[in-house]
Amino acid sequence: MRSLIPLLYLFFFAGASDHAMPFMEYLDQNHLVCLKWGFDKLEGNITFKLTVNTTGWVGFGFSPNGGMKGSDIIMGGLGPGGTYFTDYYATGNSMPLVDMQQSYTLLSLNESDGQTIVTFQRAIQSCDDQDVHITAQPIKLIYAYGPTDDISYHQARRGTKEVNLLNYMTRTTLTNFSYLNATADNITVPPSHTYYHCKVMKFPTLNTKHHIYLVEPVIEHHDIVHHMLLYRCPSFVTQPYDKPCYMGDIGDACFNVIAAWGVGGGVFELPENAGVPVGGEDSDTFYRLEIHYNNPNMETGRTDSSGLRLYYTAQLRQHDVGVMSTGLLLFNHMQYNIPPKASQFHTYGVCNTSMISQFVNPLPDLQVFAVLLHTHLAGRKVRVGHYRNGTQIDFLSYDENYDFEIQQIVNLGNIKTIKQGDEIAVECTYDTTDRTKVTRMGLATTDEMCLAFLLYYPAIKISSCISHPNTTHPLLNKSSRTSVVTTTSDQDEIAEYESLLKAVPQIQMACDDSSRILFYETGFVREMMKTPTVTCQNNKASSTLGTSWIVNPAGIILLLLWIAVM
Ligand SMILES: *[C@@H]1O[C@H](CO)[C@@H](O)[C@H](O)[C@H]1NC(C)=O
Ligand SMILES: *[C@@H]1O[C@H](CO)[C@@H](O)[C@H](O)[C@H]1NC(C)=O
Ligand SMILES: *[C@@H]1O[C@H](CO)[C@@H](O)[C@H](O)[C@H]1NC(C)=O
Ligand SMILES: *[C@@H]1O[C@H](CO)[C@@H](O)[C@H](O)[C@H]1NC(C)=O
Repeated sequence: MRSLIPLLYLFFFAGASDHAMPFMEYLDQNHLVCLKWGFDKLEGNITFKLTVNTTGWVGFGFSPNGGMKGSDIIMGGLGPGGTYFTDYYATGNSMPLVDMQQSYTLLSLNESDGQTIVTFQRAIQSCDDQDVHITAQPIKLIYAYGPTDDISYHQARRGTKEVNLLNYMTRTTLTNFSYLNATADNITVPPSHTYYHCKVMKFPTLNTKHHIYLVEPVIEHHDIVHHMLLYRCPSFVTQPYDKPCYMGDIGDACFNVIAAWGVGGGVFELPENAGVPVGGEDSDTFYRLEIHYNNPNMETGRTDSSGLRLYYTAQLRQHDVGVMSTGLLLFNHMQYNIPPKASQFHTYGVCNTSMISQFVNPLPDLQVFAVLLHTHLAGRKVRVGHYRNGTQIDFLSYDENYDFEIQQIVNLGNIKTIKQGDEIAVECTYDTTDRTKVTRMGLATTDEMCLAFLLYYPAIKISSCISHPNTTHPLLNKSSRTSVVTTTSDQDEIAEYESLLKAVPQIQMACDDSSRILFYETGFVREMMKTPTVTCQNNKASSTLGTSWIVNPAGIILLLLWIAVM
């Protein structure tokens, strides 16, 4: 029994640290210096685990330009006198000076198999002017180490690597690659403001299962292509076609998102341990490419062949990736409107995973590693709350500065686990002060949506878990002032309407890969915590950082479409 305890501890610790530090990069070409890291929220701490093949001292830091001058450095090791670990800053190419304010916390430091392994933490938004601030832009990491514990000149045992710590994406060097093309075939874009084109297609047969690990946009006309989505179809879709979307065709029922791109976006690469399955027993599966064209000048004669290129490999990764849509979707007969002249109108959609377990039982722990938030033009904020046993335990994601033009899949700083019975709530905040008419929930960019797409593993056969308020509920209809299609711009009435929509029961719906839908009527919107704010007392430091992490074009967007299906 005794011998089990360290083993269990090791097992638990290894598992826990993988989730807490999902990102990994070798800082040198010889793979002697390995950095793992992760973080919970941008207002909190970032944790690093540095492993270096030496039993001497190790150093790591952040540098403004790759050199030592102005850099923020930690050095540590396990020497004859025990463990040492200190925060320094460098004023030039000389021995760094001890930082007055020690901003790093040592979590563990040990040696094994000739390696030094040091785990440490600091605030992402450090208050110390002698610390380099970490933003969502690439930052130059520097390292050095020595053969002994005498910290002295490192000679050639040093280097630098640029990494985006807060918005990290694996970058595979493509060598022997294969890809599938999901592209439109010189289609004619009609002279209308919004046009959705759908191509339902099959891919060339792959006899065995493969994994898609990278999605590259192929855009012919950047001025009109607004977003693209690729959906996997249920088995009853058996014929290809190429035509406008949402005209009642069978392919409208394909709504299991597997890849996406949005204006401002780039390549998206999945984590090294995960891939989207394709081929094998799925060889007969059809896919639907949906391209949203924006043609505001109503130009005629525009043609386009844009699409997505899916890079795949036969070397299967550990996990199959699934994408689950959560949030708010409405049917035509359950319509409600966002009134005009509202500066902060909130809508909610909830997902109770106990509903999913009626399809998938037992429900495995879903490890969410990335999230894509989606609203249309009036969206200003999106927050995704995570609840367990009736209490909010976390945010899966939030964006307090939502920008329709920069929609991206965001890798989470740590992997968040959704357990059976957990609930997810998506809150969207809209600003309609510049509108004179009501805003509908719907497909056009001038309509609204409120969705969060969760990228997770292991994949389960569920494509969505969404809800909408029961707009036929007596609470909403008994007062004529707060009609469900309210057009008021009276601020008190707007507030009352918003709170009634939040208070009435939610009609929840889960949908599986074969488009089976289960209705369920007991959901409620729970309170959502305040978004975490920076706790740093040093105003100067926090104001430098306030905006920098938000901006990063890379992207994606989406839409779902039940509205039309129903
Ligand atoms: C670094 O050390 C580890 C553990 O001893 C060893 O497995 C690995 O091969 C070493 N790496 C290199 C590049 O020498
Ligand atoms: C390249 O990939 C193909 C298909 O995946 C494979 O058959 C071939 O052996 C690979 N070639 C090399 C040199 O790895
Ligand atoms: C695309 O279609 C247009 C008109 O339908 C035609 O003029 C043009 O040559 C086509 N382009 C290609 C590359 O086939
Ligand atoms: C919720 O609470 C119950 C009773 O306290 C407990 O048995 C259960 O494990 C909890 N669920 C989760 C997911 O923690």
